Amino acid sequence: MSKKLSVSCDMDERILKEASALAEQKEGGVEAHYQTLLAQAMPYTGWVGYAGRIPEEELAEIESIAAEIREKSTVFVVIGIGGSYLGAKAALEFIDGGQRGTREKTSPRVLFAGFNLSGSWHKALVESIRDEEISICQVSKSGGTVEPGIAYLTLRKLLVEKYGPEEADRRTYAITDGEKGVLRQEVSERGYRSLVIPGDVGGRYSVLTPVGLLPMAVAGIDIRQALEGAIYGETEEIMAQAKQLACIRRAMQDYGKTVEILGYFEPTVGFFTEWIMQLYGESEGKAGKGMLPMGVGLSRDLHSLGQFFQEGNQIFCETLLNIAHPTADIVIGEEGGEKYAGKSFNGFNRAVKEGMIRAHRAVNIPITVIEAEGTTAFDFGLLVYFFEMTCAMTGLLMGVNPFDQPGVEQYKKEMMNVLAKAPA
Ligand code: PA5
Repeated sequence: MSKKLSVSCDMDERILKEASALAEQKEGGVEAHYQTLLAQAMPYTGWVGYAGRIPEEELAEIESIAAEIREKSTVFVVIGIGGSYLGAKAALEFIDGGQRGTREKTSPRVLFAGFNLSGSWHKALVESIRDEEISICQVSKSGGTVEPGIAYLTLRKLLVEKYGPEEADRRTYAITDGEKGVLRQEVSERGYRSLVIPGDVGGRYSVLTPVGLLPMAVAGIDIRQALEGAIYGETEEIMAQAKQLACIRRAMQDYGKTVEILGYFEPTVGFFTEWIMQLYGESEGKAGKGMLPMGVGLSRDLHSLGQFFQEGNQIFCETLLNIAHPTADIVIGEEGGEKYAGKSFNGFNRAVKEGMIRAHRAVNIPITVIEAEGTTAFDFGLLVYFFEMTCAMTGLLMGVNPFDQPGVEQYKKEMMNVLAKAPA
């Protein structure tokens, strides 16, 4: 049986040595942090082992709501931002090469809104779905975030105009805190069907809770398989690799690496790197520390950033996310002539990966390759848990709290000051 996930490193001996020292250190070492996480001895660690604890009634409720939405909708709009958006979108793009929810004909199209404040973008969305059978779901832990808040008001208005208030209520769903916030209050007053974001799980760690599971289920994805993947992620074999990667990422920062390139070769993995960017960025970017995570699509970006990678300022390390068995391939026929006939896209994709690794090793860029077997729901759940654990352990090794995000509040305060002075 092939390995479900593997991590391999190709880098300077000094980085590997420092990573090993971090791995062996007793107090304050990676094992101690891992045990802290397992014991859920810090606030906001409710996601640790959550896939195995999620009650059967809750899973059944998610599946029942999803079935209801699938039955009556051609479009399902998920309204959220940050951790209430990126994970679900990443799942839909990643699983089965993005065939579900985005392109599949047998389920409603799952669309997203409320992750920007563009009036023209939201106007175009409303116009494009006006004649569809629509259901909407606001996802917001606080229930008070501006972006999804105003997108929700706009889409809710469309539902009321189209269906009248009672049917609009039946087509409105919510995922929010169990008790607090204006959204929970609205749910109680209007009786929408709703799900709860666990109180001890922060937004960026919430994809395998109702936040990501409902949109996945509406798209026809087997959410139980995704949870199985996350449970497999808890095994010693996978966690040993997460600990190794956490130590390497921590060590990298002592070698002047301030940017971590997250390279991917399958475009449908691209949004998964957006999810990692939030996970790493919000968890580790504190106290003047952390590496700036940067998603890089390959081979596309070798034709734009390739020059910088090869000969520019070496402030970065590379983490490549590879899929061992992509969902499909195309072999070039006779029309390819001597140069291309008999060769395939995936063959070229493998060659570009190997070629790039050789070229980058020649200039000492530290490279880590993380290889997943495929793009099933199981693979997705496994990767999510693997990266969440890696991130949390790296943050703890860096001496920062990987579960808060005090810096995110700053722009919100300033935006409110601007609005107070010059109303929009
Ligand atoms: O990870 C986080 O906590 C944030 O990205 C939040 O998910 C984001 O700000 C949205 O917040 P809320 O779910 O409260 O609307």
